[in-house]
Parts: sequence; C-alpha cells; structure tokens
Amino acid sequence: MKNIVAIYPGSFDPVTNGHLDLIHRGSKLFDKLIVAIARNLEKGAALFTMEERKEMLVAMTSDLDNVSVDTFEGLLVSYCIKNDANAVLRGIRAISDYEFELQMALMNRKMEPRVETVFMMPAEQYSYLSSRIVREIAKLGGPLNGLVPPMVEERVRERIAQHQTVSQAKHLL
Ligand code: PNS
Repeated sequence: MKNIVAIYPGSFDPVTNGHLDLIHRGSKLFDKLIVAIARNLEKGAALFTMEERKEMLVAMTSDLDNVSVDTFEGLLVSYCIKNDANAVLRGIRAISDYEFELQMALMNRKMEPRVETVFMMPAEQYSYLSSRIVREIAKLGGPLNGLVPPMVEERVRERIAQHQTVSQAKHLL
C-alpha cells in the first residue's frame, strides 16, 4: 500500500463543523492529513489571524493522531511538494462549488501532475454551511449552534463584539 499524505487547504476563518466533518472523513482515508491554512491575499480583512485559526483547529483535531495543522503562503502545489504530499483534499457541498473547484484542481494538476485532488462530500446537514455565512450570522446576532463548535462560537462572538466596539468608537470621533 502507498503512503498517502493529503493536504486539506483552506481559509478556515473560522473552522466550521463542515470542515471538521471533512477532516474526520479524510483522517480515515489517508495515512496522514495536514490541514493547511492559506494566507489568502484575495480575500478581504479576516476575522481571525492565521495563528488564531491554527489554535482553534489544533484544539478541535487533537483527538486525531494522523492529523496536523499548519499555515502556508504561496502556491498550494509548492507546499504539497515541500511536504511530500500526493493528494489535496477539498470538500464539495453543492453543484455551485464544482466550477471553481474543478478550475482549481485542473490548474493545480497542470502545475504539478504528481498531486491529485480528491473531493469528498460533507454530511448533508453541512451542505449549506460556510465560514462566510458563519461570520455574517454572527455579525447580525443570529444563532451559531450546530454550525461551529462551542469554543469557536465563543471566540467568534468575542471578536465580533470587539469589532463592533471599535467601529462604534470610530463613529463617535
Ligand atoms: O477555504 P477557501 O478560501 O475556499 O480555500 C481556497 C484555497 C486556500 C484552497 C486556495 O485559494 C489556494 O489554494 N490558495 C493558495 C494559492 C494557490 O495555490 N493558488 C492557485 C490555485 S489554482
């Protein structure tokens, strides 16, 4: 049997129950799974720093022996080669994810044919869940139970409250 090392890349701002569902599935399939938080230059201001996101992911995956958490900058395929990884794990929730995921997978394969992308589906109850929607619901004071672990919910609420205090203070200036 081959030793399959997979990278699960993403922004994880913050980690959701959908991400954790995929990490559990991936940890059963691969010999080693590295959850890799990308410094994403295209996205706007993040809610959490890379270190904060890493801290939450480490806490949420500590029970999985073959899973580690890391951060990276630059091309995903370069990071894969540097870590002797032969697979990239990505989650597909709905058809709408497919176009972007296909483009990314094919482009990554063109740049680095040694790395295969493997798609997995999260449990149905997470098929409409994303970090972006978690941030939006939290900003508007909606419920997050079932969407993120309690520890992450607490951190999200704290951070949103900090942001709101800062923006109220700026408003008063
Ligand atoms: O959680 P996200 O935001 O959907 O993750 C997107 C991510 C981080 C996987 C993607 O933006 C990425 O791979 N970034 C690294 C830079 C890179 O290799 N870009 C070329 C992709 S074809």
